Amino acid sequence: MGRKVPVSDLLPDRPTLPKVQKIAAGCKACDLYKRGTQTVFGEGPRKATVMLVGEQPGDAEDLAGHPFVGPAGKLLDTALEQAGIDRRQVYVTNVVKHFKWEPRGKRRIHAKPNAAEIAACRPWLETEISLVKPHVLICLGATAAQALLGKSFKVSKQRGDFVDSTLAPIVSATVHPSSILRAPDDEARREEMRRFVQDLKKIAREITRARSGDQGAPARARVGGSGGAKPPRKDG
Ligand code: URA
Repeated sequence: MGRKVPVSDLLPDRPTLPKVQKIAAGCKACDLYKRGTQTVFGEGPRKATVMLVGEQPGDAEDLAGHPFVGPAGKLLDTALEQAGIDRRQVYVTNVVKHFKWEPRGKRRIHAKPNAAEIAACRPWLETEISLVKPHVLICLGATAAQALLGKSFKVSKQRGDFVDSTLAPIVSATVHPSSILRAPDDEARREEMRRFVQDLKKIAREITRARSGDQGAPARARVGGSGGAKPPRKDG
């Protein structure tokens, strides 16, 4: 067993995205580096307005070394385009930077990262957020939403809501694009895609407002739990 080195021991005093990405390539903060081909770090403009946070790289991302380039990424590209969000202006990343998988025959099947793996990887994501400082941060799927907005966050109920959080001025969550790919039939897939694009359109309107200098805050829901969610205000 290799010795685990916490990310905090690796982070430089003056981080930049290229520096941190290079260091993350050798990350051994949890055992997932043994299974994955490589660290898949976030990508996008340093000053991206929008950051999308997924769960972990998939099979295609693990091989390519880039986030959201496989089937879920292609669906995400289509949905962003339909919502009027320019993908080139978006920073995409994941809560866990290595592909966790289990063998099934010759295939590598996605396995959910556990709490320890998510916690071990978290400083990379925190560093990305602090460097990019996105105006809008969107969690894709329950793993990202619960890691960043608290364990009690329910994507099925709270998708598309704006959440009061210290992570970014505008924070929201929606489903993971791979859940749309798993829909049981074409009709269900079309409906799930429609709802996904609808969530993204709501976010697109906030991006437009931010660009036009309108800093008026959208109505937000408060969430409990850990992460960047602000604690409820004590009114009176
Ligand atoms: N799913 C994710 O959560 N992230 C990726 O990069 C690809 C698929």
